[in-house]
Amino acid sequence: MSQTVSAAASGQFKIGGDISVNRLGFGAMRITGKGIWGDPADPAAARATLARLPELGVNFIDTADSYGPNTSEDLIREVLHPYDGLLIATKGGLTRHGPDRWAPVGRPEYLRQCVLMSLRRLGVERIDLWQLHRIDPKTPREETFGEIAKLRQEGLIRHVGLSEVNVEEIEAARKHFPVVSVQNRYNLGDRQSEAVLDYCEQHAIGFIPWFPLAAGSLAQPGSALDDIAKSHGVAIGAIALAWLLKRSPVILPIPGTGSVDHLVENVAAAQVKLTDAEFAELDRAGRVTA
Ligand SMILES: NC(=O)c1ccc[n+]([C@@H]2O[C@H](COP(=O)([O-])OP(=O)(O)OC[C@H]3O[C@@H](n4cnc5c(N)ncnc54)[C@H](OP(=O)(O)O)[C@@H]3O)[C@@H](O)[C@H]2O)c1
Repeated sequence: MSQTVSAAASGQFKIGGDISVNRLGFGAMRITGKGIWGDPADPAAARATLARLPELGVNFIDTADSYGPNTSEDLIREVLHPYDGLLIATKGGLTRHGPDRWAPVGRPEYLRQCVLMSLRRLGVERIDLWQLHRIDPKTPREETFGEIAKLRQEGLIRHVGLSEVNVEEIEAARKHFPVVSVQNRYNLGDRQSEAVLDYCEQHAIGFIPWFPLAAGSLAQPGSALDDIAKSHGVAIGAIALAWLLKRSPVILPIPGTGSVDHLVENVAAAQVKLTDAEFAELDRAGRVTA
């Protein structure tokens, strides 16, 4: 199975109504060092993982300027530029102060720098999907949203997404620009964003669940996923991803890994078609562990 898997089997979603991607994507945060800081421990494995994406049909890649910082965008450019048929979605608005340390800054001049520097690092003239990594509580959000609207009008970014937001915040942002995607933490065992997901589905907004494998814990043996994984002949983590794919047609999972083997295991989720009974059983098990 591992030689023939393709993310194309997960179905397609049109980001912003005009960029079609295969729904099962890739998160490029894990191709950096410990604490998402600096270079990866195994740079060759990180490069090999990126290089396998196109042949596995993964054409939606999520990154951010703050991953490393810069490391993830730099590696993506090195391995995948000129991105033939790939959507590279990046983010800005989080500053870095060391391993595992992140601080939001939403001031207009900083966000403009984020976009200009991502353009340079990625080697593109326009970012097709740029996401605000966090709303900065210290900056009036109207200023943040107003600057993003300008960057869009100037053609530096094509579509805008948000991250870690509630419905009220999405609606406030939509007064300034169309919101085409929302990236919130969500997985089988973490359902705090159900209302946001439902809102996205109603408005054809892509919902990008980060942490789809709960950092690998949903890929470990010893859970309700085991038996279902065995019956489908896939790794356990693929079942957690297949559950997300079935949960809503607007969901675009972006599992992260720096390992080719794990990547292939994860992409195999695209082929898994859970029955309604399996979906319900996983749903129940997820709610119990949540
Ligand atoms: N918007 C935000 O605020 C935000 C926050 C966090 C993440 N993200 C995005 O979401 C993506 C996914 O989130 P995430 O990376 O935190 O969580 P995740 O995808 O749930 O988990 C990734 C972790 O699981 C392990 N893993 C992956 N596939 C596996 C497999 N088949 N078997 C066993 N372990 C496996 C990886 O280790 P190995 O490298 O060893 O495979 C990695 O440590 C990120 O890459 C990033 O693009 C966004």
